[in-house]
Amino acid sequence: MQDTRSGADALARFIARMDAIVAERDRPEAETLESVGKALGDLVARDDWLDPQFAEPHPQYYRQYLLYADPQDRYSVVSFVWGPGQKTPIHDHCTWGAIGMLRGAEVGQAYVQGAGGMAEAGPSERLEPGDVAFVSPTIGDIHVVRNAYDDRVSVSIHVYGTDIGKQSRHVFDPATGVAKTFVSGYANVERQPT
Ligand code: FE2
Repeated sequence: MQDTRSGADALARFIARMDAIVAERDRPEAETLESVGKALGDLVARDDWLDPQFAEPHPQYYRQYLLYADPQDRYSVVSFVWGPGQKTPIHDHCTWGAIGMLRGAEVGQAYVQGAGGMAEAGPSERLEPGDVAFVSPTIGDIHVVRNAYDDRVSVSIHVYGTDIGKQSRHVFDPATGVAKTFVSGYANVERQPT
């Protein structure tokens, strides 16, 4: 029988590393992100561990599947599944986040709120498998992300500094910059009544 242990255990090993990282309290965010980035980079260095049910695209909408939520809400791990050509609105996170590309590719564009609406900040950034990128209110938290491909599914693994499905955050009107609050939830978790 083929030994698939190393693939199946990849997420468990990552969660153990994350538990150790968030256990170090009062650490500067930059150090936390560096450690998270290394652990996430190792996780997405191979693509043999993600349960196919958490890589299922939706014909119309990008999907966010919860892979793991820390019981103390110190972090969450999500698979982000892009159908062909799908993209997000302009949005923020209101916490730190790390994005590790697992399969396919995605393109991110940072934005800032300007006087005449939302303005692009810097060039767009393309992530290929194994690449890791970061967001946070201190380093830039507003962006649009899209599948780099119009003809295939892409999957990235996201880690956030809270339970992102419960986090109150914002989408922004491109023309006016007006922010609207939203809570994303997860495709595989029943929304809790609030
Ligand atoms: Fe995002």
